[in-house]
Amino acid sequence: MSEKKSRTALYPGTFDPITNGHIDIIKRASALFDTVIVGVAHNRQKQPLFSVSERMEMIRHCIEDIDNAVVDQFGGLLVDYAVEKNVNAVIRGLRAVSDFEYEMQMALVNRKLNDSLVTVFMMPHENYSYLNSSIVRELAIYGGKIDFFVPKYVKHKLLEKLQSNESTG
Ligand code: COA
Repeated sequence: MSEKKSRTALYPGTFDPITNGHIDIIKRASALFDTVIVGVAHNRQKQPLFSVSERMEMIRHCIEDIDNAVVDQFGGLLVDYAVEKNVNAVIRGLRAVSDFEYEMQMALVNRKLNDSLVTVFMMPHENYSYLNSSIVRELAIYGGKIDFFVPKYVKHKLLEKLQSNESTG
């Protein structure tokens, strides 16, 4: 029998900041693949609250107990980064039907750019199906409770960031 090939998945996103919904997907993917790369996109379409290195540091902290998950960053096209890292599949979370259209478009464009790249959709736990990073940021800005949505460490970093932004005006 031929030797089993190692399978690498890429879970890309902005992660501004990482939430429990993202962590749920990373755990599910890590059970299916040998390695999961959590790829922090520089993302020129968004103006993130946290820098790329701050986002990476938070992710690293949150996934330290998942042995086969690592964090990295990428600029440019996802397909180019995926080839560079020998990625077998791109993981995307499908939270609700409303995600589908955009996700299908992205998967098909990526496939058009690189036919060998497979997109795998995973459903996060239903508790997180309505969650995104913007909601978490907004709740934090207005003093809402975010304990259920992000790990303690991320909550701490978020409040710290908002406080430092306030004091620098
Ligand atoms: N749990 C909680 N929130 C989730 C989630 C989950 N499982 N999955 C997604 N989200 C949230 C994200 O936090 C994000 O929230 P925000 O808009 O408030 O920041 C929102 O849902 C949208 O997520 P997503 O569509 O994954 O956007 P993204 O910004 O996180 O990632 C990239 C998009 C980076 C993957 C995409 O822009 C990309 O590939 N860029 C590289 C350039 C490229 O190749 N472009 C061509 C693509 S066809």
